[in-house]
Amino acid sequence: SNTLITVDERLLKICELLEENIVYYNWVGFYFKNGDKHELKLGPYVGEPTDHTIIPFGKGICGQVAVSNKNFVVPDVKAQDNYIACSITVKAEIVVPIFVNGENIGQIDIDSNTADPFTEADERFLEFVCKEVSKLLD
Ligand code: SME
Repeated sequence: SNTLITVDERLLKICELLEENIVYYNWVGFYFKNGDKHELKLGPYVGEPTDHTIIPFGKGICGQVAVSNKNFVVPDVKAQDNYIACSITVKAEIVVPIFVNGENIGQIDIDSNTADPFTEADERFLEFVCKEVSKLLD
């Protein structure tokens, strides 16, 4: 039979693959800009549920990426003053924006329970993942 797979199901599968295959990726999720509101809304994710399903632009690591349009690698979350804690186990975070037709429409957000785990290879890899995601959304 012909199973229709939604965009959200595909995004969830990407989260699952990343969390299962990369030991230091412990929470993996997508945030997307919420219409014309100046906020991000949580999309598919794997890991501990978070209270932060809506994040205003500029707030936290995610909110800063919504306005900077740049990767944000945080080796030590305790050293950040504009940071939203989701879990006490998290030591580091990486956020990479997703562009559709040159516009920043959302991001992939990854939390790690390992200190300082992210390298430029993670940035290049996640940029590739975000490019693939942008094709699903276009
Ligand atoms: N730590 C993020 C909030 C989202 S949670 O990591 C899932 C931030 O500072 O924006």
